[in-house]
Formats: sequence, C-alpha cells, structure tokens
Amino acid sequence: MIHCTEDMALDIQTIRKDFPVLDQKVYNKPLVYLDNAATTQRPIQVEEVVSQYYHNGTGNIHRASHFLSDKSTMAFENCRDIIQNFLNAKHREEIIFTKGTTEAINLVAQGFGEVFVGEGDEVIVSEMEHHSNIVPWQLLCDRNNATLKVIPFDDNGVLMVDKLDELITEKTKIISVTYISNVLGTINPVREIIAKAHQHSIPVMIDAAQAVQHTPIDVQELDCDFLAFSGHKIYGPTGTGALYGKKEWLEKMKPYQGGGEMIERVSFKETSFNQLPYKFEAGTPNIIGFIGLAEAIKYVTAIGLEAIAAYEEELLHYATSELLKVDGIRIIGTSPNKSSVISFIHEKAHHYDLGMLLDKLGIAIRTGRHCADPIADHFDISGSARASVSFYNTKEDIDLFIAAMKRVVQMF
Ligand code: ALA
Repeated sequence: MIHCTEDMALDIQTIRKDFPVLDQKVYNKPLVYLDNAATTQRPIQVEEVVSQYYHNGTGNIHRASHFLSDKSTMAFENCRDIIQNFLNAKHREEIIFTKGTTEAINLVAQGFGEVFVGEGDEVIVSEMEHHSNIVPWQLLCDRNNATLKVIPFDDNGVLMVDKLDELITEKTKIISVTYISNVLGTINPVREIIAKAHQHSIPVMIDAAQAVQHTPIDVQELDCDFLAFSGHKIYGPTGTGALYGKKEWLEKMKPYQGGGEMIERVSFKETSFNQLPYKFEAGTPNIIGFIGLAEAIKYVTAIGLEAIAAYEEELLHYATSELLKVDGIRIIGTSPNKSSVISFIHEKAHHYDLGMLLDKLGIAIRTGRHCADPIADHFDISGSARASVSFYNTKEDIDLFIAAMKRVVQMF
C-alpha cells in the first residue's frame, strides 16, 4: 500500500482505488459520499479478508478443538491486540468487543452503574451528546433514583467546561462526554475534563465514535477510564466496536449480559464469572466482522492518523468557506476547534428537501436531528443538513457538493 506522495501528502487517488464503491453513479450522477459521520465505506482489503473467511469457513471461537475454530479464534483475538496497540491500552484484557459505541456505553451504564451509582448520586453528560450517551444514563438514573446533570455548550457549539466546577459534587459518580460532536463537529477538551474529574476521583467515559477515525488516541496519555468506538465508522464492518476500560474498573463491574463465554462455572445454586475480557462478552460475537475490523484498523494505521487529520482539516476548512458563499446558509456549530462535520440550515429550504434534492444530484449527506435532539432544541431548529468528510473525499467532491447546493437553493 502506497498512500503518500513524495512530499508525504496523502495520495488520495491511490487511496480511492481501494474504495471502488466511491467510483459509482447514482441517478446517473457521480456519487459524492459526504455521509461519513453516519457510516464510512470499506476498503477492498476489508472486503477481501471478510469474504475469505466466509469462503474458506469459520469455526466458533474459544470453543472447539478443530482447525477452523483455532484459526478463527486466533484471527479474532488478533483483532484485540490490534485495537490494544491502536489505542495504546496497557492490557489486552482492557479491550472488550461490543456491537458498537451504543452497546459499549450501555455496558458501562449498567455494569458500572449498578455497582457505583445509587440513590441520590449524580451522573454528568454534556448537552451535545448523541442519544446513545444520554439514554443509557437516563435509564440508570431512573432505575437507581440518581440524577443526570448536563454540561451546557454556547451558541458556537463550544462546551462550557468551566461549568463543571459547579456541576461536580461529592455525589458525582461518573462523567461521560463525547470527544467530537456528530452534529457540531466540536472537538471537546477531553484532557481538561478528565483532569478536572480525576481531581475529585471521578471516572470519565469518552464517546469516541466520531474521533477514532479522525485523530490519534492514546488512552494512557488521555488517562480516560472508559472509551468507546464503532467499527463501521472506521472503515470496518457494521455490528463491531469496542470498549476500552481500565482494568481496575472493569474488574469491579457487574457483567452486562449473561450467557455462554462470560461464565467460569454455572450451577442452579450459583454462577461464577469468567476473567476479563470474556466476562463482558456473552454469546457468539460477530467473528468475521472483528476480523474485518482488524484489517480496517491496519489500513488506517498504515496511512497514519496524523496525515488523515491534517488532510481532513484542510477539506473541512475548504468546504466551510465554500458553503458560506451559498446564499441563505447558516452553519450550526462554529467552534474554532472542529473536525470533519459541517451541519447547516438554509433560510428557506427545509433540511429534508435539501437532502432529497442533493441526493438526486448524486450528493449523499444526512438530514434530520442526527440522534441528538438536545442540540436541535438548543438552536430551536427542527434539524439540519450535515456533510461529513473522510480522507477519501477530494476538493472535487466539495466542488460538486457546492455546485449542487447552489443549484438546489435557487429552487426556493
Ligand atoms: N451516529 C450516526 C450519525 O451521526 C449515525 O449519523
């Protein structure tokens, strides 16, 4: 794989050859895929490894003593090593496989919450969370008579981290915040939040669903207690993802789901649980999905997240300045520290109409409330249109998007 030109810039044309799916027409127009925050496309390297495992057969993991089972187990467990290295986790058993970010947050809200969050206790999230980082905590607070508190953001979409000093009390048991907002694109000062929380011995969970594919993450350097991400947002298969958790917390937590693999010994009198990470991995997982995820992470690592971040930042700035030249546009989320996402509304056109008309011109964006109702409520809008970039997008993609926008808004 050669992904860089001689001056070490990303060689996007070579990269795009790994994503033949981008080279297609929809409604007889070249596809411009700008919905990467919802899900990314997968390179052929992922597709090939996945189809090999389907073609050559798979055994169930950790269970049988036969060739296909051993081969699958080794490839599956190799994915754990790859994620451990990717996040720089201290121990491999700190990586728990999940269906994605949503399941990882639910796992912590239940497994941690049932042990550490009781009546009168408090959990803190932010106003810019995806529903998956709100509802699991609300359910926990409802079950255990605890209170959910919220760090607000300002009208630029910048988190008001200073408010944490007022929000934290001796009842605060955990803080869970997003690294990068899926709507505002804001990159939150997670190091500062973690440092503040740790002064009070409060653990912090980071929702990195929109971060792992855009910025290098070192969980030891961040010193976060939990971090979650989804495979399909980092060029891997859907239905895969991981939770990183510090071993000392994971060991004290309750299992999330019961079933095979997560137990040591079962009797009708009592059941003892397996060691980490298996205590949190009940049932047969998406074995081939994780083998594909390992390949996706290898792919991204080979390109290099620093180079990806620099290129995507350039694309984001270009797209933002060009979009602002379109009459009647307002950008939702104007933090000086942003990544990969531009949400916008038009003074006359409804976001659904924008999305539908752009689609007919080959441009794929997302519209709606983006699973983050409190953000729409903050701005008193019904939703927004959202374009989100990846390293495989080009300036030509942005030009096609802007030309289509200019054409579409003329209709209103
Ligand atoms: N969370 C995904 C998004 O923001 C689905 O589009």
